[in-house]
Amino acid sequence: MAKSKAKAGTKTQDAIALLKADHRQVEEWFEQFEKARDDDRKKTLATKICDALKVHTTIEEEIFYPAFLEATDDKDLHHEAEIEHDGAKQLIAQIDASGPDDDYYDSKVKVLSEMIKHHVKEEEQPGGMFAEARKSDMDLDALGEQMAQRKAELEDSASEMPPPGGRRAGAQERAASGRHR
Ligand SMILES: [Fe+2]
Ligand SMILES: [Fe+2]
Repeated sequence: MAKSKAKAGTKTQDAIALLKADHRQVEEWFEQFEKARDDDRKKTLATKICDALKVHTTIEEEIFYPAFLEATDDKDLHHEAEIEHDGAKQLIAQIDASGPDDDYYDSKVKVLSEMIKHHVKEEEQPGGMFAEARKSDMDLDALGEQMAQRKAELEDSASEMPPPGGRRAGAQERAASGRHR
């Protein structure tokens, strides 16, 4: 099987392994945010979380979700997941546009973490989207490869933006370029 497109040194993961690894990474950053006391540290972590979630929701919406819908025809699971993404994106845009000096900043990040926790459970629980995907005839290896490639592309374009922690002149245009249904 041709796996040459994977980045050197990057082990090719199937679609579900890739998405679950993203979930674990973001959960870790949310935990670190809760313990953080320093404003710069908070801003850095929140930016990492928001950037990672933007990339994650994009690869799910562009690649995994459509393939899931086609393979399973499970509109309920599919549509609910998309609606949950839309809710998270509104909060992500608000967090991106503000900072730790905002009295509501910690609350916004906390509520985002709760929304994501719920959404991740819906995806990972028995009978949830990932379990249904495993039972279907989706080509999870090919989708994993496709998503890894798209993820790298999106991360590259994000890294052209100003670094987190500093003045984020790119934040507005970035939020504006986010896809909203
Ligand atoms: Fe996900
Ligand atoms: Fe999702």
